Amino acid sequence: MTSQNTFRAVVAGTGAYLPEKILTNKDLEKTLDTSDAWITERTGIRERRIAADDESASTMAAKAGKLALEAGGIGPEDVDLIIVCTSSPDVLFPSTACFVQNELQAFGSAAYDISAVCSGFVFGLSIAEQYLKNGRYKNILVIGSEVNSRIIDWTDRSTCILFGDGAGALLLKRVEQEKPLGILSTHIYSDGRLSDLISVPGGIGRTGINKQDVDDKKYFIKMSGNATFKVAVKRMTDVIREALEFNGLSVEEVGLLVPHQANQRIISAVAERLNYPMEKVFMNIHKYGNTSGASIPIGIDEAKRSGRIQPGDISVLGVVGAGLTWGSAVIKW
Ligand code: COA
Repeated sequence: MTSQNTFRAVVAGTGAYLPEKILTNKDLEKTLDTSDAWITERTGIRERRIAADDESASTMAAKAGKLALEAGGIGPEDVDLIIVCTSSPDVLFPSTACFVQNELQAFGSAAYDISAVCSGFVFGLSIAEQYLKNGRYKNILVIGSEVNSRIIDWTDRSTCILFGDGAGALLLKRVEQEKPLGILSTHIYSDGRLSDLISVPGGIGRTGINKQDVDDKKYFIKMSGNATFKVAVKRMTDVIREALEFNGLSVEEVGLLVPHQANQRIISAVAERLNYPMEKVFMNIHKYGNTSGASIPIGIDEAKRSGRIQPGDISVLGVVGAGLTWGSAVIKW
């Protein structure tokens, strides 16, 4: 019998979906007291995508998931598990993942959502890693999908400029081989003491949806931008460093760093602290803004399809999100 520790969780396919509609900083200038120069300088964002009326987290996730399945060369009937990482689900329940399963016709799979906001995708990867490495499942779709435009107060210039919509997916497959391959490690953390930094504070289970909270715009994202910025730089740096140390890797041995795209200045500060050269740091924030749980898989898909990730490369992922949550992962391609 094969020893369990030769099971590897490899990335067999990637996919992404970005809505067609582009909202530029110039467009925002028309309705907000802001400027293209301010947004670009403080965040690196130039434009973001906005879902159409008939799109939602599930429709975008299904499109990204379908592309990942095609790239991985398997049909929906071979999927064992669908994990959707979203903080902007279609409805409170059932899970967005169940809608995605129906759309993909992957009826042999279990499907559920996880909620770790921007960190969701790395948390989802860590779950898939366990199922694949312990031999429970063979094919797992991990999808990050967000329709942030629906939970943003478009009159709040300190938050609405930051976010965008989109979805990204990875198909993870179990293979057996001696040499390390695929997900080499995941490290995930949470600190509920920092839950006030970024939240959608309106109560659903806590208070019931009520008119006062609607009038007070509590069903939209609230954020302490400056405090979040500082915590994000520290936690992302520490957790990426932990991933490198855990795998005995130096910065020179690692190819692309794919960080969560929250703010170009956060990414640059993390890279500087790690002595990571910016040419090895993936960045697409100028096009999409912060797509929360979708940002890392969209980045991986773009990097893979444009040839910036090659077989044999090692990539590092790093993320911080509401909760507070944070994490890292190392992938050998
Ligand atoms: N346009 C113009 N001015 C703006 C503005 C906008 N869109 N948003 C805020 N300002 C103003 C503020 O009102 C403030 O004005 P004041 O000095 O007169 O009070 C000034 O700009 C500075 O605000 P501050 O919040 O200190 O700016 P900042 O340099 O921290 O940048 C963020 C704000 C939101 C861009 C930045 O804090 C950030 O990116 N934080 C991290 C957020 C994040 O990534 N969260 C998700 C993590 S997963």
